Amino acid sequence: MKIIKLDAIDSTNSFLKEMAENSIVEDFTVVVAKSQTSGRGQMNAKWEVKSGKNLTFSVFCEFRDLQIINQKSLSYSVVLSIFEVLNRLKLPKLSVKWPNDIMSGNKKIAGVLIENVLKGKQISSSIIGIGINVNQDSFPINLPNASSLKKILNKEFNLDLLLNEIILSLQEKIEILKKKEYSFLEKEYLKVLYKKNVPSMFKDKQNILFMGKIIGVSSIGKLQIELEDETVKEFDLKEVSFA
Ligand code: BTN
Repeated sequence: MKIIKLDAIDSTNSFLKEMAENSIVEDFTVVVAKSQTSGRGQMNAKWEVKSGKNLTFSVFCEFRDLQIINQKSLSYSVVLSIFEVLNRLKLPKLSVKWPNDIMSGNKKIAGVLIENVLKGKQISSSIIGIGINVNQDSFPINLPNASSLKKILNKEFNLDLLLNEIILSLQEKIEILKKKEYSFLEKEYLKVLYKKNVPSMFKDKQNILFMGKIIGVSSIGKLQIELEDETVKEFDLKEVSFA
């Protein structure tokens, strides 16, 4: 394992992607930056956090026989590794909002952006980007659902120590993934899934509101919501959100 520490970069994911394209990166290389000028989030969103206060890092992982169909298990291993470390810090009401937002109550504490390099039906390598809000004191008004460890637990955290813990935890979970323990990972993920089995209001992509409850994730990684008439509908990330 190798750690590259940078002061500033556009995005740690983009940096590792470029290294991977030029074949100059070894398995489990970690790139961590104090600040990112073009941090990227899911669905082409920006990931903007205060410089030096938070953890923004990416990990390059190689796989020998991980099928695209098991992509969701990779995502489970990543979020479970973060969940486990934050749980040790006694962060209250910790859960994972599908697919991979780490929540404390209704506040988002961490996000994950996984970018895969595919070869045929296989994932040959992945760039696992992780952003954790650690010591940031306040968040812009347009991010009412964001929070940090410091805001919730009222103390500062050492970023290097936290990073080491997450990397160790990630290594363990990736080992479980490589041993193909997919159903174990899914079981652990479903245990911590945000609002699982809780009747909630959702919004579909036409902004139509509907009631239902999350019951699980399909084999291809879609969110399964049981409607009030007990039929089950499956949604991908762009198709549904909590209302
Ligand atoms: C999300 O919840 O939208 C995912 C956020 C992922 C942010 C991290 S920060 C480190 C890495 N580099 C990036 O540009 N993005 C990820």
